Amino acid sequence: MGDLDRIYRQSIDNPEAFWGEAAQEIDWYKPWDTVLDRSGAPHFYKWFAGAECNTCYNAVDRHADGERGDQAAIIYDSPITGRQKTITYSELKDKVARCAGVLRDMGVEKGDRVIIYMPMIPQAAVAMLACARIGAIHSVVFGGFAANELSTRIKDAKPKAIVTASCGIEPGRVIAYQPLVEAAMKLAPGIVEGLLVVARDEASWELAEGRDRDWKAALETATPADCVPVKATDPLYILYTSGTTGQPKGVVRDNGGHMVALKWSMKHIYDVDPGEVYWAASDVGWVVGHSYIVYGPLLHGCTTLMFEGKPVGTPDAGTFWRVIEEHGVTTLFTAPTAFRAIKKEDPKGALIGKYDLSKFRMLFLAGERCDPDTLAWAQDMLKVPVIDHWWQTETGWSIAANCMGIEPLPVKPGSPTRAVAGYDVQVIDEHLKEVPRGDMGAICIKLPLPPSCLPTLWNADQRYIDSYLADYPGYYKTGDAGYMDEDGYIFVMSRIDDVINVAGHRLSTGGMEEVLASHPDVAECAVIGVSDALKGQMPVGFLVLKAGVDRPDAEIVKEVVQLVRDKIGPVAAFKSATVVKRLPKTRSGKILRGTMVSIADGKDFKVPATIDDPEILDEIAENLKGIGLAGGR
Ligand code: COA
Ligand code: AMP
Repeated sequence: MGDLDRIYRQSIDNPEAFWGEAAQEIDWYKPWDTVLDRSGAPHFYKWFAGAECNTCYNAVDRHADGERGDQAAIIYDSPITGRQKTITYSELKDKVARCAGVLRDMGVEKGDRVIIYMPMIPQAAVAMLACARIGAIHSVVFGGFAANELSTRIKDAKPKAIVTASCGIEPGRVIAYQPLVEAAMKLAPGIVEGLLVVARDEASWELAEGRDRDWKAALETATPADCVPVKATDPLYILYTSGTTGQPKGVVRDNGGHMVALKWSMKHIYDVDPGEVYWAASDVGWVVGHSYIVYGPLLHGCTTLMFEGKPVGTPDAGTFWRVIEEHGVTTLFTAPTAFRAIKKEDPKGALIGKYDLSKFRMLFLAGERCDPDTLAWAQDMLKVPVIDHWWQTETGWSIAANCMGIEPLPVKPGSPTRAVAGYDVQVIDEHLKEVPRGDMGAICIKLPLPPSCLPTLWNADQRYIDSYLADYPGYYKTGDAGYMDEDGYIFVMSRIDDVINVAGHRLSTGGMEEVLASHPDVAECAVIGVSDALKGQMPVGFLVLKAGVDRPDAEIVKEVVQLVRDKIGPVAAFKSATVVKRLPKTRSGKILRGTMVSIADGKDFKVPATIDDPEILDEIAENLKGIGLAGGR
């Protein structure tokens, strides 16, 4: 048995011993009573029950006070503004302690929630760590979400404070945050008591007296706050993610298990050493940003890179290579869509040759299925291992990966390789039986889940059970479908729910349908994700109008496109819709979304036996042609 098999077997056969040993890498105030408390089984498990720790201490203080005080903790590189800044571990400790002091002065106590609505600036990471320092629970909301989405999260998390900035910056436009934050607070009144605001040069924020504080001024005069011990099982953060409805799910992450798993992953999966420069080109608003822009690299004593820009257009498709050369990046982690964007602009990789990539060792891709073409192009151009790995907001780290720090396995295009230590991944049918190797099924994980995975949903234990555990008792349902081959390689092919993946962003078609249905002229609607060469999938809406509506279709389509942008946000990338006479349904009234996707993607499909009226499918095909979508694009 090789190292990989041995380690994997240990983690499954005796998770307590395996993770108990991995936990030695973390500093604890008080050790655990039990590594894994199973008393809440079959649904609820607690890692490192009884232990006390502090995530900020492990990510910042122990490096600042140890040998890494002068090492860069964060390099901020912002081609969109032309700014750069390096923050050492000592400086980071000072900033985080001051920010924590300000939050405390604003009345934020252990267990209180703080929403962080920020662009990709170092203050976002400082605010997250400051919350961790005093035991407050942060909830970062991605800047591309609109006021309505922000208000939903305010209502659910009930934050005492919001940390924000005067604006975000996208190519060609500055997004002033004040109108968005004010609108969100109006929709969720009486919850937020105070705001801490980073003033950026590109937009102003009018401070409301008694409510808002200016970041710079407040931190200058703050009394630094120390790390407080929290329970390993206390929440570190809540991160909302799309489910099948417009109500997002508040994924809870604990302190202890999260630290242990992330620290383990840095060496064993990414093969990175402390002191090296690790770059996750994502956003702090997504789970990748939480785990591998902020917590993972800092827990490991790496230098993390915060990049405020895009893979193309800021200023060109060579930006990634410029950053790698300039900052000596060894490991890059991004989504395949970023590579598709680069490949489109620079298919021959002419810009790659302009930079010295000699320190660059490995590229990791996740967030969506990595198509074999993109994998092959990246391998050809970069001449480094290109590693697809599969994970979810719910887990916080890889379920399947090629563990480069243990024993690299041959890459099979289209597969994120094998299950990672701690994850007993099985492809099963509705009778909980493993399907034969090579056959498609629901990809599930046998309980218990390893450390870092969600213990529950915020204030919604029953929803946690219903969403993830009820359908396959004894298993966690990932929501992905796929197969496993003879060698144990996992192939993640599609979702089994209404979640779609647009440019590596997870979005709910159900949420978009709720917005379309709120338009006064719309009687009925459906949203599907169709294949897109750049973004993986793009949402397309189908609208059935109310009887008697007598307005041009184009006008209504324009309005619903704007409505989704206003209610969910630009990140939904909802740009096409079509007015149809009727929607294809089964005789029991279920909309045949899967069949519509096949028509749009030009795939073969069987007309479902239960269809109410097969002619509707021809009508849908005609409509799709009308918006340039018959047969994919
Ligand atoms: N604040 C405000 N608006 C935002 C935003 C933010 N933080 N992030 C994105 N948006 C807007 C974009 O400006 C765009 O608006 P538009 O419709 O007016 O053009 C819209 O949301 C869609 O954004 P995006 O899907 O990012 O598309 P894009 O065309 O701007 O860029 C890529 C395409 C592929 C370059 C980009 O998606 C990318 O870099 N992806 C990397 C993947 C990634 O970060 N994944 C996260 C998980 S690893
Ligand atoms: P998120 O929670 O936003 O990270 O999205 C998680 C979902 O993205 C997964 O459930 C998959 O559907 C998809 N996903 C993420 N990484 C991969 C991957 N490497 N291969 C296939 N699908 C992926």
